[in-house]
Amino acid sequence: MRTLWRKARIATCDERMQVHAPGAVLTRDGIVEWVGAEQELPAGTRPDRTVELAGRWLTPGLVDCHTHLVFAGQRAAEFARRTSGSSYAEIAREGGGIVSTMRATRAATEDSLVEHSRPRLQSLLHEGVTTVEIKSGYGLEFEAEAKMLRVARRLGTEHPVTVSTSFLAAHALPPEFGGRADEYVDTICSDWLPRLAREREPALVDAVDAYCEDIAFSSAQCDRIFAAAGSLGLPVRLHTEQLSNVGGSQVAARHRALSCDHLEYASEQEAAALGRSGTVAVMLPVAFYVLAEKQLPPLQALRAHGVPLAVASDCNPGSAPGASLLLAMNMARRLFGMTSEEVLLGVTRHAARALGLARQRGSIAPGSAADFAVWSVDTLDELGYWVGFNPCSMVVKDGAIVLERPI
Ligand code: NIG
Ligand code: FE
Repeated sequence: MRTLWRKARIATCDERMQVHAPGAVLTRDGIVEWVGAEQELPAGTRPDRTVELAGRWLTPGLVDCHTHLVFAGQRAAEFARRTSGSSYAEIAREGGGIVSTMRATRAATEDSLVEHSRPRLQSLLHEGVTTVEIKSGYGLEFEAEAKMLRVARRLGTEHPVTVSTSFLAAHALPPEFGGRADEYVDTICSDWLPRLAREREPALVDAVDAYCEDIAFSSAQCDRIFAAAGSLGLPVRLHTEQLSNVGGSQVAARHRALSCDHLEYASEQEAAALGRSGTVAVMLPVAFYVLAEKQLPPLQALRAHGVPLAVASDCNPGSAPGASLLLAMNMARRLFGMTSEEVLLGVTRHAARALGLARQRGSIAPGSAADFAVWSVDTLDELGYWVGFNPCSMVVKDGAIVLERPI
């Protein structure tokens, strides 16, 4: 089946970041065959179907490369405490935070976790997201971590979205390992990770993540987890430098991590290391906003060292309650001073690279997947401009129209 998508204005988000207006894309069986200016369409092209887009903007389907969208319960009471002065770290040290969501998530059945998580995924899909990363990390015991990963996979088969999973057992220390963080890390490395990595149909783990922070795991412990992941051939990513600088980016860079996420407390040195290792820096401005953080990530240094920048929702019940990549895009521009082009590449090409999917997703080029978002906007500058308003009017996944919204 060949489809011609025409009368669009197209931002390819590929290496050359081409804009075609009016542009057209030809897709065949879910793959892009040709993209370019409408008048250059090869003569004799005979599509089976033509979709006219009336001058609307067409971009790659968005990629949300950092979410914790599978969880049970909520932490509104913690938010209330923080708005009256308590800190995220204080609440975590008292046994709240991630461990509180762990209790709710352990108690939930697999089916109920799917049902709780579905509306959050749907909210992202309505915004043009066609690829989403989903982490475990609220199970913190083998079975509950496996349950979260199975839920993530099920969401990917039940909805028109590509799901990339990250195993994040090193998110917080579960109470049964109290005072024994090194033993917990040993258990992850020598038992849980190899067992989960062997799972097939579905395979459960696409990458391994950890939280490197003084309230979580040390850089030495993350280094061990990454070595274990590497020996199983799994790529790694890291949450780090969110609340303090404990050297996480350096560890991530040494292991050639796909991404390093948060980075408010990173400095020039970390930016240089990430630049050398080709690691994507993932900006999470919703968490910055919700935690009322004051320290800005070192954008100038990251740019100067050629670090690709991504932007993600961080959807989670603690630091980023909600499920909006468009809001994250707006906040990346307003709070972090990213340009509209940086933000667009941050939710397309660079976000796909952060998931190791650069060839298939996040840009429109011959051979890439036909994942598109269509926008009822006059200019691309409107992406990340609107606050609490969604201008996405069509979503195309693997060549099929999966959503149309009257805008
Ligand atoms: O990305 N920083 C660690 N993980 C999450 C927060 C998780 C939670 O508070 O439940 C984050 O901000
Ligand atoms: Fe996170």
